[in-house]
Amino acid sequence: MRLDSGSHTSSHGTDDLLTLRQPDDWHVHLRDDDMLAFAADYTARQFARAIVMPNLDPPITTAAAAAAYRTRILDALPEGRRFTPLMTAYLTDEIDAEEIAQGFADGVFTACKLYPAGATTNSASGVTDVRKIWPVLERMETIGMLLLVHGEVVSPDIDIFDREAVFLETVLAPVLKDFPGLKVVLEHITTDDSVQFIETASANVAATITAHHLRIDRNAMFEGGLRPHAYCLPVAKRRRHKEALRRAATSGNPRFFLGTDSAPHQKHEKESACGCAGIFSAPTALESYALTFEEEGALDRLEAFASEYGPRFYGLPLNEGTVSLRRQPQDVPGLMRDGDVQVVPFHAGETLAWRFSGRES
Ligand code: DOR
Ligand code: ZN
Repeated sequence: MRLDSGSHTSSHGTDDLLTLRQPDDWHVHLRDDDMLAFAADYTARQFARAIVMPNLDPPITTAAAAAAYRTRILDALPEGRRFTPLMTAYLTDEIDAEEIAQGFADGVFTACKLYPAGATTNSASGVTDVRKIWPVLERMETIGMLLLVHGEVVSPDIDIFDREAVFLETVLAPVLKDFPGLKVVLEHITTDDSVQFIETASANVAATITAHHLRIDRNAMFEGGLRPHAYCLPVAKRRRHKEALRRAATSGNPRFFLGTDSAPHQKHEKESACGCAGIFSAPTALESYALTFEEEGALDRLEAFASEYGPRFYGLPLNEGTVSLRRQPQDVPGLMRDGDVQVVPFHAGETLAWRFSGRES
């Protein structure tokens, strides 16, 4: 990674250029149809690969459906864009271990996603009791296939702010006890409890951290009124949890790496009596992470977090080539639209200090 401090001045003052090895996004929602056409390239322009979530309606549960979805994603991108969607299988109570294993062997599936039934958007067909998929987990452990976890319990008795911490104890710990060799990524962690869980777990367990959970705490949802665009799942927690996430992300611990969980929803579906969960961070994802790393005095650790720890954990090669960010003010629009699609992005209306300036090679 290089930070070239500008000898050449621009109208914006010092023209710092931050150059990183080409990064990947280890957790994203690209959607389908018009939303896919709108959203896909925001991810593909910044990231070489992305782990694509399977929570479509209906969910991606077969290799054939994943292969077809992968084709739709590639068809949604501009000519010549180099981007590899890494597909995931949506685990259900009835999922067929054979189908999963075959899809993995054929290179269609990179990983499986566990949504506890009812935990989030399109999770109704998720797993009602993790014991029901024990044989699938056993098979995954044997073949070395990763399990990606939405780590929240769904019981209405458990306070929404405690759902992640309770999941660690009641679901994740028992899974790891029975399958000590299973590679697990605890997705989009939001608590100090998860940070500590990862720090003390064995080397086959890692976590992704979103750009937004590094910047907002739960107060963001209530600032002067109800703020649906700050609502996502797992929901942002207290400030001390955000601070723990910032420490973890910038610590240089390879078990924490980048996963945006960028999750676009139509504006009217968020600004509703029952608003959808999800924050659309893809358009300025790297810029947002750069802000946080810079504030933490850790810009020199951004490259490893964004471009090295993820592929190493997944057992994939690091990308060749680089991307650059320029220190140049960037106004983020309050609303993005494309035909009937209208989405309010993360950082809407803010001016960011960095601007993505493209890929080299
Ligand atoms: O905020 C979220 N949005 N969290 C999830 O787990 C799902 C996602 C979505 O698909 O909208
Ligand atoms: Zn997600």
